[in-house]
Amino acid sequence: MSILTRRRVLHRAALSATAGAGLSPVGAAVAGAAAAVTAGCDTPPDADPTATPGAGTLRFPRDFGWGAATSAYQIEGAAKEDGRGESIWDTFSRTPGRTRNGDTGDVAADHYHRWSEDLDLMRDLGLRSYRFSVSWPRIQADGTGRPNQRGLDFYRRLVDGLHERGIAPMVTLFHWDLPQSLQDAGGWENRDTAYRFADYADAVFRGLGDQVPVWLTVNEPKTVVQNGYLWGHHAPGRQDPDAAYLVAHHLQLAHGLAVRALRATGSTARIGPAFNLHPCYPADDTPAAAAATRLYDGYENRLYLDSVLTGAYPADVLADLGEESRLVRGIADGDLEIISSPVDLLAVQYYTPIYVTADGGTVQRWATSEAEWQQIHPEGMYDILTRVTRDYGPVPITVTENGLPCPDVLGADGTVDDAGRIAFLRDHFAAAHRAIAAGVPLESYHVWSLLDNFEWAEGYDQRWGLVYVDYATQRRIPKRSAHWYQRVISDNGL
Ligand code: FCB
Repeated sequence: MSILTRRRVLHRAALSATAGAGLSPVGAAVAGAAAAVTAGCDTPPDADPTATPGAGTLRFPRDFGWGAATSAYQIEGAAKEDGRGESIWDTFSRTPGRTRNGDTGDVAADHYHRWSEDLDLMRDLGLRSYRFSVSWPRIQADGTGRPNQRGLDFYRRLVDGLHERGIAPMVTLFHWDLPQSLQDAGGWENRDTAYRFADYADAVFRGLGDQVPVWLTVNEPKTVVQNGYLWGHHAPGRQDPDAAYLVAHHLQLAHGLAVRALRATGSTARIGPAFNLHPCYPADDTPAAAAATRLYDGYENRLYLDSVLTGAYPADVLADLGEESRLVRGIADGDLEIISSPVDLLAVQYYTPIYVTADGGTVQRWATSEAEWQQIHPEGMYDILTRVTRDYGPVPITVTENGLPCPDVLGADGTVDDAGRIAFLRDHFAAAHRAIAAGVPLESYHVWSLLDNFEWAEGYDQRWGLVYVDYATQRRIPKRSAHWYQRVISDNGL
């Protein structure tokens, strides 16, 4: 591994070690932070976050898919019901010191029992699309074999309930909750896991297929690679750069195999990957910063985009990893053809830009949110969407995640005033609107998240929902942002 890569890995490990523990003041973990940091949820007291310059003028295309997103482990709970097996997140979150306050997803937002009430909430919001994930260990407790009918039935009820309420389901097959038994057999380091994933996907396609118009394969492979295998603050908690990029390859392979499995069923549903993309900018105008940014972008974006959309891994990343790397050695004949099986759409998740220094480190340029890895820069949404269209052609795009955590408090009057979230969403919606005007075929937008939920290593401390969850009672209280979003949807714009 080159010096540059090693330095980046070490730098990010240091950064995330602090961020993962969540003990540092906002921004303190960021080396060389330039500007004073303000919390992204703050808005000036006299500002009206719902006011939009040129209000009423930003109309979105007809039938634009306004939506919200969740994932199974983060909301369902019911960790031991109806034949569900163990996932790596059960193991990880129950390991002392891994999550804040030792929080687990055992109960989460209890969505497994409250799904019907939650669907009513979505209907009242006016959602047109709902993105959720299927829990692999509910379908195959050990990650292989005959599907568990009770698991399939749960998702069938959910999908039917969405249709009854006029909401289109968008289903992610893998949002990080790998069956523990597969981890015990090597997890994503084991090439066979990609084939197990294709079998699982096939079972889900056959169980729910005709009712699901859009499938997403793997959620954010990069986060599994980086958080799970480079920095170790997500399950399975490894810190092994060489393993990390082999894992990237097997996740990409799993994606391609699932695309082929869907086509083999004869389905006409659409399918694509879900990537978190980070626009990378040089921190200064030196040639060295430009070169470092280019390589950084390779690891953050092109590794995933190029392999699926062009059928090749980026040469600069492969060269940087080296011929002896497990990724390079792990590529078998025909893998790239599988990985680049034609997709119908690309799901983009945008949270933050990255500013890269000449030595391959990063600096902070904009205010962060409670998630100190997140810098608030709506223009990054425009930049990443237009860049994907420019570099890869007019593949239809759905934004499947965008949002921020706020220190939301349930007031004595029973409301939650999250003005900062409204301002954030307004600015990001406006950026997406500009991208559409510039020719990006963006068809839908899912706010992360519908509900407050289990935010992985951060447990329940960070609240990302449009709807507040009072975990003591599991009562749902739509925040001010939910009411605002309802109006955006009914106006089809800002
Ligand atoms: C994304 C994840 C999602 C949630 C948000 C905040 O990376 O896909 O589950 O954790 O970040």
